[in-house]
Amino acid sequence: MNKQIPESENQLSVGARLDSIEQALGRAVDVLSGNMEALFSIFSVIHLRHPLPPMGRWAVSPDFARILVDVILERTPGLVVELGSGVSTLLCAYCLEKNGVGAIVSVEHEDEFVRATTENIRKHRLDQFARVVHAPLRDITLRNRIYKWYDKDLVLPKIASQKVDVLIVDGPPAKTGDEARYPAVPVLFDLLADEAIVLVDDAGRQEERTTVRRWVRKFPILNLQYLRWTEKGTAILKKGA
Ligand SMILES: C[S@@+](CC[C@H](N)C(=O)[O-])C[C@H]1O[C@@H](n2cnc3c(N)ncnc32)[C@H](O)[C@@H]1O
Repeated sequence: MNKQIPESENQLSVGARLDSIEQALGRAVDVLSGNMEALFSIFSVIHLRHPLPPMGRWAVSPDFARILVDVILERTPGLVVELGSGVSTLLCAYCLEKNGVGAIVSVEHEDEFVRATTENIRKHRLDQFARVVHAPLRDITLRNRIYKWYDKDLVLPKIASQKVDVLIVDGPPAKTGDEARYPAVPVLFDLLADEAIVLVDDAGRQEERTTVRRWVRKFPILNLQYLRWTEKGTAILKKGA
């Protein structure tokens, strides 16, 4: 038997649904305009020599890219280490070129993306500032939990000669395991410079939020700031005061 919904209740639920659609649309417009604004900002300081691969989806969104650009231009880091290569590698390398100092080492587990990013670095003539390290994912055990993370025997020798000023955590992808990005800070902590900054993309996801909370508990010297206004959520951790 069809249950009759009283007219007033029906109107209420339609009203509630319209409210939530309005909220979702409002959020989409905010994200879109935030990303447009970020693109204008980025390209007012970076002059590309070749078109970039697409942003968003798998790649960083413009709003996170703007944070990378801001941090690198402001801090003039000697060494930037990135987990997960792509558009972000190119934008960071352009900033390092503008600074006239520093290098980005981008760690990538997939053959296909090692090739793509290396080729893009060449096309953009950024070889002096960026290189990709191919490190397939291996099992790594931390506190009795097994993660799939970049083969650290391939990563550490490539970055151990200098302290890491900026660490960008944008890989491995979530599909490779639970809290796939957790090993980043425990494995690299000793290599972080005294005032290093760790930038985490996708921090709107529950998994990354848990990861970041666990890092801060284990390494209280890391101070955390969450940015909820970026499309995918951003966590910024600063070492020291
Ligand atoms: C979040 S992405 C890294 C994106 C990178 N930082 C950028 O700005 O382009 C993490 C990993 O996903 C993989 N990946 C990148 N693009 C992909 C695609 N279109 N489809 C599937 N996997 C992709 C690569 O292995 C990459 O390291």
